Amino acid sequence: MTKPFIQELVNEMTLDEKLAQLTQLGPYYWGLDDTVDLTGPFKELKIKPHAIENIGSVLNGVGARNAIEMQTRHMQKSRQKIPLLFMADVIHGYRTILPIPLALGCSFDLEACERFAELAAKESAAAGIHVTFSPMTDLVRDPRWGRVMETSGEDPYLNARVTESMVRGYQGKDLKEKGRIAACVKHFAGYGAPEGGREYNTVDMSSGVLREFYLPAYKAAVDAGVAMVMAAFNTVDRIPATGNEQLLRGILREEWGFNGVTIADFNSVNELIPHGAAVDGREAAEKSLAAGLDIEMMSTHYLHHAADLIEQGRLDVALIDEAVIRVLELKDALGLFENPFKDADPQVDEAAEPNAEHLQTARQLGASSVVLLKNDNEALPLKRGMKIGLAGPFATSIHVLGGWAGTEKDPAVSLYTGLSLKTSAGDILTAMTGELGSMLEGVFDVEDGIEEAFHRLKDCDVILAAVGENQQDTGEGGSKTNLRLSPNQEKLIWRLKDTGKKIVTIVFSGRPLELKPVLDASEALLQAWFLGSESGNSLADVLFGDYNPSGRLSMSFPYTVGQIPVYYNAYSTGRPYDPMYPQVRYVTRYLDCPNDPLFCFGYGLSYSNFAYSSFKVEAADKLVASIEVENASDTDGKETVQLYIHDVSASVVRPVKELKGFRQLSLAAHEKQVVSFEITRDMLMFYGKDDQLVFEPGEFDIMIGRNSGDHFTRRIHID
Ligand code: GLC
Repeated sequence: MTKPFIQELVNEMTLDEKLAQLTQLGPYYWGLDDTVDLTGPFKELKIKPHAIENIGSVLNGVGARNAIEMQTRHMQKSRQKIPLLFMADVIHGYRTILPIPLALGCSFDLEACERFAELAAKESAAAGIHVTFSPMTDLVRDPRWGRVMETSGEDPYLNARVTESMVRGYQGKDLKEKGRIAACVKHFAGYGAPEGGREYNTVDMSSGVLREFYLPAYKAAVDAGVAMVMAAFNTVDRIPATGNEQLLRGILREEWGFNGVTIADFNSVNELIPHGAAVDGREAAEKSLAAGLDIEMMSTHYLHHAADLIEQGRLDVALIDEAVIRVLELKDALGLFENPFKDADPQVDEAAEPNAEHLQTARQLGASSVVLLKNDNEALPLKRGMKIGLAGPFATSIHVLGGWAGTEKDPAVSLYTGLSLKTSAGDILTAMTGELGSMLEGVFDVEDGIEEAFHRLKDCDVILAAVGENQQDTGEGGSKTNLRLSPNQEKLIWRLKDTGKKIVTIVFSGRPLELKPVLDASEALLQAWFLGSESGNSLADVLFGDYNPSGRLSMSFPYTVGQIPVYYNAYSTGRPYDPMYPQVRYVTRYLDCPNDPLFCFGYGLSYSNFAYSSFKVEAADKLVASIEVENASDTDGKETVQLYIHDVSASVVRPVKELKGFRQLSLAAHEKQVVSFEITRDMLMFYGKDDQLVFEPGEFDIMIGRNSGDHFTRRIHID
């Protein structure tokens, strides 16, 4: 029910004021006066400086002091005293930079995900931000796409749980509460599936696959009360999401009951034209407004064409009013009509030093996001007093915050610094530490100092190779066709192996890379992602065993880029490959590569040794699957026990397995615990032929284990 004061505001607004309220621009437009000759993109938007006073929201780039100044000026000029809404890309922290979301998903720790968002909200609220364009919950299966770094991976269930935790962390129970901001889930829908992993490329899939894999996490955000939804750049069934009425009204509002604000992605209303879905800005505005797209970001077709469309009877002004009401209701929910400055606090925002408590949280989040992929002959953990060799472009680098790293105000802790805080610097010898170039600059290799590194480090007890990809080569616009480490990095690792010492390869990346070429040269392999401000300390905690690695992969690692897309929850096919008969040709297979990934979804090692036994599936008054897990080692550790289900036969084919639950156990040395999962009817529902949720009785495989490739299985009949 619309509050009377909001309805009165809308009733008094002119059409121009309403359309300006539905327009979002960068901060550079404010403070200009009519004499300024707007050039370049500013000119293209044909914005008259005087129109600025009615614009509804600001995109990125302000900070507390500017936000206060802009809001003060705005409220002085605004005829109806409607406050500005400040929105920004706070993707993994604001001033304290946290692990990239793909790493966070590997923690499988939902409380950690909530803490992650809470911390980011607190810092960005103090910076005057009201809305973050996060969580990004696009399901991904293709590491060639640079934005996999911003999501929580390839599984709908994990994506949904991480997403709802982050929405809770950002928004809390009341947006008016200090330190809370509104969340904007994105990019609705299916943006994570561009053909060829090429940024902004066509997305095309059946509605059944869209519903089964790609929509659940957005719906989880809506069910968690997310305030906003951002439409994706891509098409959904050949209609750009930004102007897709079936998606934005049919599914989002009518089916899911979402009544919050929808926003375009950057310039994406305008991009209906190059998509070939609109002949000009007028048609782009008409289709987007009709589809229920409330705020136009960084294009101005609503402002310039909606009035004509209404006059010509092509658009009902009621559509404009309903959109404006939703925007005003969001401002009201944030308390901006009472206090337009909300939590903006220059003293906090401009503090000389970062918040020590927040850094400690970042360090813990980082350590729990690292994934130990290989650890032969107990190469890890390191022992204090060891002579440690450290080589590679990430040995001393502070460029490990990850893309979208907000203000980048404080340098990250490098691996070298983290290690030297744990052992005497005299015990660490470095070599070939030149920074990695970037593909964007045409060079992404390190200088060849390999022979020098071999001779400098050959007498160390253990050698760490800190390798990976430039952080700027991931994120938006970061698609790549080559996922290997650069030639000199691979040569470095193999040459260091000639020393006969244990090589610990540590990989800094925003995506799964192609690591098979260096796997045999590495005694241990650690996926370090980009862990943000406390990167070096988080890694040192894991390397020295002060934190027992507990990360589990949220996305498969391919043997080779030729294998992509490779993901665990695939359909079987009519000729499934049977590893018992490897010589059979006419089954689904490659001649030169296994079907399975190099490292599968849910995989990760620990310094503990977890033993599984007593797997049971019992159907009493409830259907319960249980298993006993023992920490059969002298080291306390965390294990993520995973439940998968396979619907053996149904009216549409079903994935060979689907994650339906997980439980994170902290087990002391030699401690045992029994884990039970109730198998509920909801877990067994799926979208049938007519895209309706159904349950069909039949045979089901119930699986519990340590990852998607290593589990017990029991087949049962369920009616
Ligand atoms: C970008 C991204 C989107 C971001 C928006 C605002 O193009 O696609 O994720 O939130 O523009 O910066």
